[in-house]
Amino acid sequence: MSSSLKKGDAQALPDYADQDYMILDLSPPPQLALSVRGLSKTYKIAQSIDDHVTAAEALAAWVLKGFRGGRYQDFKAIHDVSFDLFAGDVMAILGNNGSGKSTLLKLISRITEPTNGKIDLYGRVGSLLEVGSGFHPELTGRENIYLNGTILGMSNREIDREFDAIVEFAGVEKFLDTPIKRYSSGMSVRLAFAVAAHLRSEILIIDEVLSVGDQDFQKQCLERMRTLAQDGRAVLFVSHHLESCRELCNKALVLNEGSIDFMGDIEAGLEYYADLQQVNDIGLLKRSQAAR
Ligand SMILES: Nc1ncnc2c1ncn2[C@@H]1O[C@H](COP(=O)(O)OP(=O)(O)OP(=O)(O)O)[C@@H](O)[C@H]1O
Ligand SMILES: [Mg+2]
Repeated sequence: MSSSLKKGDAQALPDYADQDYMILDLSPPPQLALSVRGLSKTYKIAQSIDDHVTAAEALAAWVLKGFRGGRYQDFKAIHDVSFDLFAGDVMAILGNNGSGKSTLLKLISRITEPTNGKIDLYGRVGSLLEVGSGFHPELTGRENIYLNGTILGMSNREIDREFDAIVEFAGVEKFLDTPIKRYSSGMSVRLAFAVAAHLRSEILIIDEVLSVGDQDFQKQCLERMRTLAQDGRAVLFVSHHLESCRELCNKALVLNEGSIDFMGDIEAGLEYYADLQQVNDIGLLKRSQAAR
């Protein structure tokens, strides 16, 4: 099987949940962490009635919209996405703004329900999606660490064992008994990353929120994620910082308008994404020239 899939290639991925797979050689099979099949998410978005030319027409449309309650259309944020992630894999999700990266991570973290398709998780998910997500604002840093651990099914004693490492990694000792709502966004992200990266989970999902932290902290996070992958965790990583993706990831998945355009190793993925951006830039240039 080729190591990468581009748009139009058949995606003949096996359905692991429904079959035992046969081991044909003596090397241990890669351990599946996550299997996504035919995943789609459709949102209802307000349809603009904007074929009007004059200000009067625009005003009439606005008033009418009030009477009609607005019209809605379907918008496919994620469309028919299938892929596997194995223990020890660090996969970069690349794509332009609005291509569906965060939506995909929210689906896998079970924050949003899919419209179609299925996600099989072979382990617990630790995720860091938005600044402050996963934390209760009224609870202190200390209370939130225990809350997150409990949600992941850890006992208080297990959390106690990781507690000092979390606090040291985040560097928030002085603010441990302060409610999270008083934390700066950088502090909040530091603690959230430390929690996600130390508590027991087999799959780690990180959206680009790390950019809120300072450079030293970002380096510290990359280092930690590398160690976790070496220990056999699977990581999904979204970042517009392509050098970090190159340094950290071994695989890439490129999303374009909600669909997978490319899936394969990181170097080929970064190259594919650079070409895609160039094609988009040329398209934009042509459209703006035609509009003149
Ligand atoms: N709750 C929602 N309701 C309607 N549309 C939504 C909703 N959430 C996301 N979308 C739309 O889905 C598309 C994908 O959004 P998403 O946040 O996944 O993009 P992204 O790839 O993470 O972008 P970015 O690089 O800017 O973070 C966007 O067009 C967005 O407007
Ligand atoms: Mg996003």
